[in-house]
Amino acid sequence: MDAIRIRGKRALSGRLAVGGAKNAALPILCATLLSDGPSRLRNVPALRDIETTAALLTHLGRPTQFRAPEVLVAQTSGTVNPEAPYDLVRQMRASVLVLGPLVARYGRANVSLPGGCAIGARPVDQHLKGLESMGATISVEHGYIIAEASRLRGAEVVFDIPTVTGTENLMMAASLADGRSTLVNCAREPEVEELARVLNKMGARVDGAGTSIIQVQGQRELLPFDHAIIPDRIEAGTFMAAVGAAGGNVLLENAPYDDLEPVIAKLRQVGLVIERESEMVRVAREGTLRSVNATTAPHPGFPTDMQAQLMALLCGADGRSVLTETVFENRFMHVAELKRMGADIEIRNNTAIVQGVPALGGTGVMATDLRASASLVVAGLMAEGETIIRRVYHLDRGYEHIEKKLRGVGADIERILLQGSLP
Ligand code: EPU
Repeated sequence: MDAIRIRGKRALSGRLAVGGAKNAALPILCATLLSDGPSRLRNVPALRDIETTAALLTHLGRPTQFRAPEVLVAQTSGTVNPEAPYDLVRQMRASVLVLGPLVARYGRANVSLPGGCAIGARPVDQHLKGLESMGATISVEHGYIIAEASRLRGAEVVFDIPTVTGTENLMMAASLADGRSTLVNCAREPEVEELARVLNKMGARVDGAGTSIIQVQGQRELLPFDHAIIPDRIEAGTFMAAVGAAGGNVLLENAPYDDLEPVIAKLRQVGLVIERESEMVRVAREGTLRSVNATTAPHPGFPTDMQAQLMALLCGADGRSVLTETVFENRFMHVAELKRMGADIEIRNNTAIVQGVPALGGTGVMATDLRASASLVVAGLMAEGETIIRRVYHLDRGYEHIEKKLRGVGADIERILLQGSLP
């Protein structure tokens, strides 16, 4: 079983390239279902979630070939099987993103309910409510969502809460609906904007993505596309936290500075120096780390996907930090592992109180979800001695060769095989 071994306290220096955004690639790949022709997505990172999406599209009847950094989705063969089985959906919740495109294009979708996950219950009621407003008949039978509509019609959908994949599902469905849709209280994440750019390339008319109100004028038909996706703001933010933890001075290539403003503002308070340098972003740590308070919120708030990495960094800061998680109800799985490394963290409901300690100590820890694993890498880079992270398949869902990238800037990190050990 693979594990990651880190020997901490090695300052980082050099250049680090940020890859394409996983959470932009996933909805865009699902959007290929809206058109019959062959589509190509470029700048795609080699991640397990992309492989799962390619397998799902192939299963649905759209043969999909993934050779990083490109995904090619073939022309439809005419027979589409609109069923996303539990076996694939349970590996990746984002599979629910085929729901909107399937019902809009083929009049029927049969998608397994994703079930709970490590970070919270994560219901999909807002996706379903939106599709129902657009005229779909929805039932849930034997753990599957069955959605049917001969043709969706444009509607006004008011989300109770901003949901990223919910907004994306509805934007895709509305693009092939009859008439105009208005989506209110939308998620404003950069990945939603990126999907809108691709839908517009396909001939859709989506206005307002990136604001809370999105208008979509439905079309009869959409075209295939060729597109290179935006860089991954969370991978870039994780690298910034890594530099903060290990110390040093690194130039990040392709870091999406504007999309990272909420993260950069917080990391500067912690004491990092972060500056644009032509097309790149320089990150350096000077002096000791300072404690900060942060509350996660939908974009443009501080992203929940960076909460765990920030917490790991704050374990080594001077003083007491308070981190409040408002997006997911159970996103503190990393705390128990950080405590095993000597962190002083107390949880009160959805708040973590982190008292900085002079040093973390490396030990064996276990990854529990994607961003929790990233926080253990950050902690391992800061710790004295050796950290061994197990269950790195979580890490591989969202970080492309993280050990190679960090080794390239001087980290002592490698992937090892733990002989005869349980996962
Ligand atoms: N929610 C509902 N009902 C719904 C949909 C969402 O109650 O129908 C709740 C969720 O339970 C959560 C909140 O609304 O409490 C926000 O969830 P959202 O729907 O925005 O999350 P998501 O679309 O499932 C995406 C990212 C996540 C990221 C969140 C929040 C993708 C594929 N996933 O998830 O990414 O944490 O938005 O920004 O885009 C990750 O990459 O590690 C990851 C988990």
